[in-house]
Order: sequence, then structure tokens, then C-alpha cells
Amino acid sequence: MLKIHNASKSFGSTRVLDDVNINVAKSEILGLAGPSGSGKSTLLRCIQKLEHLDSGSVECNEKTGFMFQDFQLFPHMTVLANLLYAPNLGKKNTNCCKNNEKRAKAMLKNLGIASKIHEYPGSLSGGQKQRVALARSLMMNPGVLLCDEPTSGLDVATTMDVVSLLKSIGETGVTMVIASHDLDFLTKISDRIILLREGKIVADMKAKNHKNPVDYLKKYYA
Ligand SMILES: Nc1ncnc2c1ncn2[C@@H]1O[C@H](COP(=O)(O)OP(=O)(O)OP(=O)(O)O)[C@@H](O)[C@H]1O
Ligand SMILES: [Mg+2]
Repeated sequence: MLKIHNASKSFGSTRVLDDVNINVAKSEILGLAGPSGSGKSTLLRCIQKLEHLDSGSVECNEKTGFMFQDFQLFPHMTVLANLLYAPNLGKKNTNCCKNNEKRAKAMLKNLGIASKIHEYPGSLSGGQKQRVALARSLMMNPGVLLCDEPTSGLDVATTMDVVSLLKSIGETGVTMVIASHDLDFLTKISDRIILLREGKIVADMKAKNHKNPVDYLKKYYA
């Protein structure tokens, strides 16, 4: 479904991805862990083709969606307009636009933020922005959802909400790759966790096979 083959990438003289090989199965939720600067965001950006690899390849036979670390919502657009911007781009067919609006409203309702539909991002809390960003990525019906730090800046309760939201999206068959510093969150959400260090894979594990997966992963941060 998603194959990353011998992926390497440098910025100047720094090798940020160093011969990374990963196969992600359909519907798998893959967590990406690793210290700051280890290459997690760069790997996600290369999968989404926001950056280009120096060598190696990324093959994906499904549409990918990207949820950014800092949400990157359009501040001058309402929540609804944020959701409709990409799917309506270049569409002259009003039926199609009407259908997108219906889907956007249903999506916001599902995510518990229907009441914010006509608000601007500036008036939303971090958790609400996170939900809008998630809804906006899902509007493109991605087969693979790439999430960069989906819980950064969120409190414990909101993080738990994001866990259940992402789990319910996972249950619909969407494959996910999620980069996060929060090992507790990653072990809760992921089927499998890959840990990067200086652009190399140093661990590839299943949380359920470890008695204390967080402690196991923490060893690699030392
Ligand atoms: N556009 C860029 N130009 C130059 N260097 C970059 C660029 N993007 C990333 N880097 C460098 O690449 C390395 C990996 O960055 P990356 O953002 O992928 O790390 P990360 O694992 O996501 O870190 P964090 O956990 O802090 O988000 C860092 O040393 C960073 O400074
Ligand atoms: Mg990052």
C-alpha cells in the first residue's frame, strides 16, 4: 500500500533521512517516534511529495492527506470555507459543491464541532482547530492519512479525544502514519511504531508485544 524504499535526503551536509525502508500495510496505523530533528516530519513531507528525496522512492497506490503540526488553517476563512477550499477548487459544478458542503457539515458534526461552522480559526481552541484540520484532511477522502504531531499543545483530555477520533477513522480502513513526541499517545494509537534517530530506523516494534512499550522506546532517546 505504502512502500518507502531506500529513502535518503540531506539538507546541506546533514543527512536527514538515511536509507529508510518501510512498508505500511493497508489499514495499518504506523507511529513515527524519535528525538527532535530525527527526520519524522521530513519523512512525512517526502511521502506527501512536499519535499523530494535525493534517492530512493515512495510508492503509494492511494491518495494521501496531510495534517500539519501547526494546523495551517486559512485564518481569513470560516471553518466551513476551510473545509471546502480544496475539494471545490476549480469545480464549476454546483451539484458537486453542494455535495461537498453536505459532506463537510456531516464531518463537522461527527467531530463534535458543528456549532463552530461559521467561526474563524482565530476564535477556536487548540483542540477545536485540531478537529477542523482533521476534518479538512478527510474531505479529500485520503486512503492514507499523514499526521504530524496531532496532539502537540493539547491537554490530556483533548489528547484522549484525538486518540478516539483517529481510532474511529482507522476503523473505516484509512491507513495512517503519525509522527509524535508523545510516546504514551503513540503506543495507544499505533499498531506498530518505528523509531528514527538521525534519519535511520533504530527500532520497529509492536506495542502489544512489550510489557512496557514506553520505557522500551525511551531507551533510544538517551
Ligand atoms: N527545509 C529545511 N531546510 C534545512 N534543514 C531542514 C529543513 N527541514 C528540516 N531540516 C532539518 O532536518 C532535520 C530533521 O528535521 P525534521 O523536521 O524532519 O525533524 P523531526 O524529527 O520532525 O523533529 P521534531 O520532533 O522537532 O518535529 C533537522 O535537523 C532540521 O533542522
Ligand atoms: Mg517534526
